Amino acid sequence: REIAEEAIARKGFFAAALSGGTTPSEFYRHLAELKDGFQWDKTHIFLVDERFVPPGDLDSNLELMQTLFLRVSNIPAGNVHAVVTDNSSISKAAELYEQELKQFFALSGKDFPVFDFVGLGIGVDGHTASLFPGYPEVAEKERMVVTSEHAGIKHKRISLTLPVINNAMNVFFIATGKEKAAIIKRVIEDKDRALPAAEVIPANGELTFV
Ligand code: 6PG
Repeated sequence: REIAEEAIARKGFFAAALSGGTTPSEFYRHLAELKDGFQWDKTHIFLVDERFVPPGDLDSNLELMQTLFLRVSNIPAGNVHAVVTDNSSISKAAELYEQELKQFFALSGKDFPVFDFVGLGIGVDGHTASLFPGYPEVAEKERMVVTSEHAGIKHKRISLTLPVINNAMNVFFIATGKEKAAIIKRVIEDKDRALPAAEVIPANGELTFV
């Protein structure tokens, strides 16, 4: 709430990019409780990543957010910036999402958006967003949005890139459960740069682990 209020006071809107997965559910339920006391009309929600599944699919990250807080908040529909997945091609979905970012943040040239808040999860393999260890999209420096399609990973995905995440004002990792303890240690203490999650080092923003 403080981050949102500060952003709205400073520039008139609050832009957040949020992740899917199971961990943030409790946090999203709390967002549902903010209801009218919160300036939803000045809040813009983007997705850190999305699975390439039809709209409304139970594995869609947007659907998770819709169910847990967006539908019960009074956020205007236009403030929810979905990854459009009803295209035939995932590369088209990524391109459209990049255009959406450029337009919303009025970006020119090689500028990256500045999110006020980015909420991330972490996988036991050290992935974050849909940036999986050992794949070239982790090293992407120019694009804002990449696709990720790998054997063994359920669903093709569309993801924000590290330059976008690292350009944010506030980045929060949320992790729970003892099965995540070892990987969190490798990120925070060992700073093991082979892990995409350890490559999250905001240039000018704050990084917080919860
Ligand atoms: C997703 C994510 C992903 C997630 C991690 C952790 O769409 O799955 O955005 O990066 O945050 O995989 O997932 P869990 O919270 O389910 O452990």
